[in-house]
Amino acid sequence: MLKIAVIGGDGIGPEVCAQGLRCLDAVSKGGDGFAYEVTRLPYGGGRYLEQGVVITDQELAQLKSNYDAIYLGAVGRPDVPPGVLEQGLLLKLRFELDQYINLRPVKLYEGVSTPLAGKGPGEIDFVVVRENTEDLYCGVGGFLRKGTAHEVATQEMIATRMGVERCLRYAFDLCRSQGRDKKLTLVGKTNVLTFAHDLWMRAFEQVGGDYPDVQREYHHVDACCMYMVTRPEIYDVIVTTNMFGDIITDLGAAIAGGMGVAASGNLNPSGDGPSMFEPVHGSAPDIAGQGKANPIAAILSVAMLLQQTGAVKNDPKLISAGDRIEAAVTRVCPKLTGQSMDRLIMSTGQVTDQVLAEL
Ligand code: IPM
Ligand code: MG
Repeated sequence: MLKIAVIGGDGIGPEVCAQGLRCLDAVSKGGDGFAYEVTRLPYGGGRYLEQGVVITDQELAQLKSNYDAIYLGAVGRPDVPPGVLEQGLLLKLRFELDQYINLRPVKLYEGVSTPLAGKGPGEIDFVVVRENTEDLYCGVGGFLRKGTAHEVATQEMIATRMGVERCLRYAFDLCRSQGRDKKLTLVGKTNVLTFAHDLWMRAFEQVGGDYPDVQREYHHVDACCMYMVTRPEIYDVIVTTNMFGDIITDLGAAIAGGMGVAASGNLNPSGDGPSMFEPVHGSAPDIAGQGKANPIAAILSVAMLLQQTGAVKNDPKLISAGDRIEAAVTRVCPKLTGQSMDRLIMSTGQVTDQVLAEL
């Protein structure tokens, strides 16, 4: 029995999750189907405003022990101060459940338009492995003389050898097993971040010694942004830090057709807690509740949930169910031609209807 915790969250989160769950239900039926159970959890801005609580330690412990996977919509809303939900829920889950990999494919599906002239699906197809538990995201820092003319604010970038190495090993393994060109590019800023990224570079070289079949490349993050636009085909697998990974994966989503199609997985590869799957996009409060949100990113996140959880549970039925959803989306995308993936002509539900028809 596959046990999934669903946190719809804020804004368009609940409505796109609902579409992903329709696809989950469709692939669970039939001969090669599977049994599953969904538990909806109320965490997000609404609960915070009503009860003043984001998530309790007990709820966190239950999430950790009771579920195989978490399916998350989006968090963040304008009437809650910045950081409360992002740090108090999203980052808390990533950190406390030790989801140390954020896996973000950048893949242009056939029929989806890219803003890059002269580039097609053959040129835009790579994976970003984003470290997900360290770096500027640790919340280490503080204020001195806050609010005065002599105010000091610090925000520290944390890189641990253990954290960096486990992320690199994941990326090397992924590149070895699934890479198209068996080429892993480390993206950093070694010319300025001469401590933290020196550690990354040394670890990259040392760990790379165990993977002689994987070609190593290094790009500074600013150059990477340029190449993602001018020569995206040079990338196979990218491994990078939490902050840089956040930034370049929005660019990645843009070149692959928009935030409406980008899926992600926050993975705990050691399996001692559930992984969490979510669209890369945010809560988009401006279009919430209007049936305008593109559900493809959320649907592809369900595909990834099934593929990854199937691999952890060693259950080929789950993997093939995830593959079926991805294949259905691949067939539907050309039918959406002419529509910007971020400004749909069809409604949220109608896009899902098309995917269901393919399933
Ligand atoms: C993302 C988001 C989050 C991040 C925010 C909401 C904290 O931008 O998942 O990319 O920075 O990781
Ligand atoms: Mg982001």
